[in-house]
Amino acid sequence: MTLRILSVASECVPLVKTGGLADVVGALPAALVAQGCKVTTLLPGYPAVLAALGGGRALRRIDDLFGGPARLQRGEVAGLDLIAIDAPHLFDRPGNPYLSPAGTEWPDNGLRFAALGAMAALVATGGLRNLGFDLMHAHDWQAGLAPAYLRFAPGARRIPSIFTVHNLAFQGQFPLSLFPRLGLPPQALSVEGLEYFGTLGFLKAGLWYADRLTTVSPTYAAEIRTPEMGMGLDGLLRGRAGAVSGILNGIDTASWDPASDALLPAAFSAGDPAARAANKAALQRRLGLEEDPDALLFGFVGRLTWQKGVDLILGALPTLLGQGAQLGVLGAGEPGLEQGLRAAAHANPGRVGCEIGYDEALARQIYAGADVVLVPSRFEPCGLAQLCALRYGALPLVAHVGGLSDSVIDANEMALAEGQGTGLHFSPVTREMLEAAILRAGGLWRNQDVFRRLQSNALRTDVSWTRSAARYAALYRETVTHAV
Ligand code: ADP
Ligand code: GLC
Repeated sequence: MTLRILSVASECVPLVKTGGLADVVGALPAALVAQGCKVTTLLPGYPAVLAALGGGRALRRIDDLFGGPARLQRGEVAGLDLIAIDAPHLFDRPGNPYLSPAGTEWPDNGLRFAALGAMAALVATGGLRNLGFDLMHAHDWQAGLAPAYLRFAPGARRIPSIFTVHNLAFQGQFPLSLFPRLGLPPQALSVEGLEYFGTLGFLKAGLWYADRLTTVSPTYAAEIRTPEMGMGLDGLLRGRAGAVSGILNGIDTASWDPASDALLPAAFSAGDPAARAANKAALQRRLGLEEDPDALLFGFVGRLTWQKGVDLILGALPTLLGQGAQLGVLGAGEPGLEQGLRAAAHANPGRVGCEIGYDEALARQIYAGADVVLVPSRFEPCGLAQLCALRYGALPLVAHVGGLSDSVIDANEMALAEGQGTGLHFSPVTREMLEAAILRAGGLWRNQDVFRRLQSNALRTDVSWTRSAARYAALYRETVTHAV
């Protein structure tokens, strides 16, 4: 029997993306088809979403959704079955989904994402004629109220829900004074509900009310049970231990395919890693680096934040450059880190190149042209950069945390002796240990036979959604069966 899943999220590739959440929400539905699941994705009707729907079919009107009228519109975009919440007073704004163009949070984000949760519950409980669902799958704090609204939905058949945490660091906390506007019953405002250290916790609500919880790697599922990495929610997560599982992300290997990637200077087949040389030369030119095939080129792509350990890269730079290597960075984020990278590029012309901003083509060029991709995150629920690096033949050098440790095989002595290894790990996450790993990468680079072997291991790694889609489907079925 086909399972009908309502996926609820605040971003989705190719329509709107600020992070890996969008990649997952956009790619999982196609991978689930082969598992007998049909996914419909509910999104806020940001301008980009409504434009892509081109009007769509209006399914239902809501006279007053937290201060204005709304319509639910359905349509198909890029193979995704979408329902958008067309509510101009909440979502018709410039900027990204959460921030104004000036970079400040929208003051009504609490109501905006409560609306996502409320509409999810409406749709999930048969609010749209001829459209029924077996299970709701909500993602991250923005959809955290969906399981709460579902739990309290009046009368209707209640379907089970799964809540996936992509990053426990973003918890969606709002003042208690917002509660009366949410339309939830008084008992929802308790420690056994939304209340979270004197605030309304949207992520906490998802963790509390969903039938099952997942996070995006097995190791992160274990880490978040600890006070060190539980970000204040470890007690709740330990209490619900039996409901939590970790399912590693994949990437969409059709869209991320070095053999057919039109955004690369030179597409190449996985069986021919030598063809990467043209991409490396083009990347060096693009970032103003010396065009030297023998220089070990380290790359970084990602948000420039404390989480991602960008300060550690800056700290380890003398060691990296000291062995004749180069560094190429693409990212945007905290002003201090942006400034630090610009200064490093200025001080080391031809050796350090950086581009501040968001650039899909350059990101792919870094994965296809760098020899090693640095991912020194202090914590990482899953991480997609290392999966993209593996797919494009750059060895990921990763902190031994979360999904990074689940997806990269360290080329340690034993692994090398067996011809195994797809990258390098370091732990603990300090500058000194990053430096040691950078030196280890240099040693591997000087032995080109070994380096090529690791590269071919990386290129052969299955980073697709196939395994994990099967695990989601199994969890969906188990949850539905259990709920009956
Ligand atoms: P997070 O979601 O925590 O930011 P992930 O590693 O899960 O990190 O996902 C980030 C995704 O966004 C990756 O696919 C990465 O290639 C991409 N990305 C991050 N920063 C940029 C950027 N500045 N330009 C292009 N792509 C980027
Ligand atoms: C979050 C996490 C990242 C993960 C992504 C997709 O942004 O920070 O580790 O890969 O979600 O699940």
